[in-house]
Amino acid sequence: MSVLIKGGRIVTAADDYVADIYVEDETVTLIGESLDQSADKVVDATGKYVLPGCVDPHTHLDMPFGGTTTIDDVESGQTAAAFGGTTTHVDFIIQPPGSTFAEAIEEWRAKANGKQVIDMGYHMAVTDLKEGGTLEDLAALPEEGITSYKLFMAYKGALMVDDETLFKTMEVAAETGALVMVHAENGDAIDVLVKKALAEGHTEPKYHALTRPPETEGEATNRAIQLARVAGSPLYVVHVSCQESVEPIALAREKGWDVWGETCTQYLFIDYTHLERPNFEGAKYVYTPPPRDKANQEVLWNAVRTDILQAISTDHCAFRWDTQKSLGKDDFSKIPNGGPGLENRLQMIHQFGVREGRITLNRMVELLATNPAKLFGLYPRKGTIAVGSDADIVVFDPEKQVTITAADQHSKIDYNLYEGTEVTGSPDTVLLRGHVLVENDELQAQPGIGQYIARAKFGEELKSRRVEPAPAAS
Ligand code: URP
Ligand code: ZN
Ligand code: ZN
Repeated sequence: MSVLIKGGRIVTAADDYVADIYVEDETVTLIGESLDQSADKVVDATGKYVLPGCVDPHTHLDMPFGGTTTIDDVESGQTAAAFGGTTTHVDFIIQPPGSTFAEAIEEWRAKANGKQVIDMGYHMAVTDLKEGGTLEDLAALPEEGITSYKLFMAYKGALMVDDETLFKTMEVAAETGALVMVHAENGDAIDVLVKKALAEGHTEPKYHALTRPPETEGEATNRAIQLARVAGSPLYVVHVSCQESVEPIALAREKGWDVWGETCTQYLFIDYTHLERPNFEGAKYVYTPPPRDKANQEVLWNAVRTDILQAISTDHCAFRWDTQKSLGKDDFSKIPNGGPGLENRLQMIHQFGVREGRITLNRMVELLATNPAKLFGLYPRKGTIAVGSDADIVVFDPEKQVTITAADQHSKIDYNLYEGTEVTGSPDTVLLRGHVLVENDELQAQPGIGQYIARAKFGEELKSRRVEPAPAAS
């Protein structure tokens, strides 16, 4: 299969120029002016941006959590991603306490087999180094292409680890070259605040935020940074939501420490007042960390503009409002934590980041594609458009007008965080390794086309490789 993309404005993290792209056997093989190669398919990209397929480093598909399971499985979540111009994501394997890492990997890969619409890799969320997981097994994961360890410093009684587990994992990462990711909130303090609020009869969704003050995020971010410094491991702070967390990251980076961070689309647009919406509407915005006071939005835009934060992910963790969020109708602490976003990240950041002058087009590509690919061992196969890269390409129409609405989305969730938002600019055609995934507002490829990517170790850019699917679990 060969594809010729004609006359588009190619935008990478570094460049911005008009040229043609020729794709053979899933790879970009030529970039130049007026290419006249014959091709099985020609895409006219005149007047359009030609962007690298976006990379989402933080998603949760088919994940059991909060007494239920996320509504999007690999097929529906990745379909939503494809329509939004995301062609690779890195999902979290959650080690069930008492299970080995090998058992957890088998379980997660079985959930994906045959359903993949885009390419994907995995992080390992370490929950237990006492009963199931061993330090030796943890150290072996990067050889299997799982080159990042995630630790939850919150969700006491569920996913939260103690500082001993956090620190030991950091020590292993320092040896193996894996990147440590933290959900940074002080879970013990939050647990006290939640119990106190419930004892006082406070059950509404807004108490989700009132029991998780920004200082608990700032404290945990600083603790993780200092512990990573002692252990000698690189650190990536996920879903940074507020100034209290941005500040220690900025300080660490000023000192030249190996600390990186992301925010998520929703923290740039949704604020605390959404949680106060009546008739349990507020439950739609119960994700963690919670929506913050609006003033934090400018802090976060500034952080992504100035490279205090390097990526914008979605933390897509979708629960339906009608049947899942309702588990917490009488108790905010029982509302499953998580929100959607895989489909709208590029549209929202283009509209309110680029069109409204907060970041450049190059910086948008860097935040949504290039930096996640570099940090998570996928670059330069993913995250850029260059000869030799996978032909993961988004032909983006900067003038296409779209009103974002749940009625048109591909996720199985029954609401959209950005309902009614009007954007100018949306993906037109999306290619995955040269295969047309999305065109004419239709999915053109069959599930199964996506592949698992064994990611390279942090800093070893060239070594990511594809791996055949594991046999389905019996
Ligand atoms: O509320 C959220 N973010 N749910 C997903 C799990 C996590 O903390 O990332
Ligand atoms: Zn988290
Ligand atoms: Zn998450």
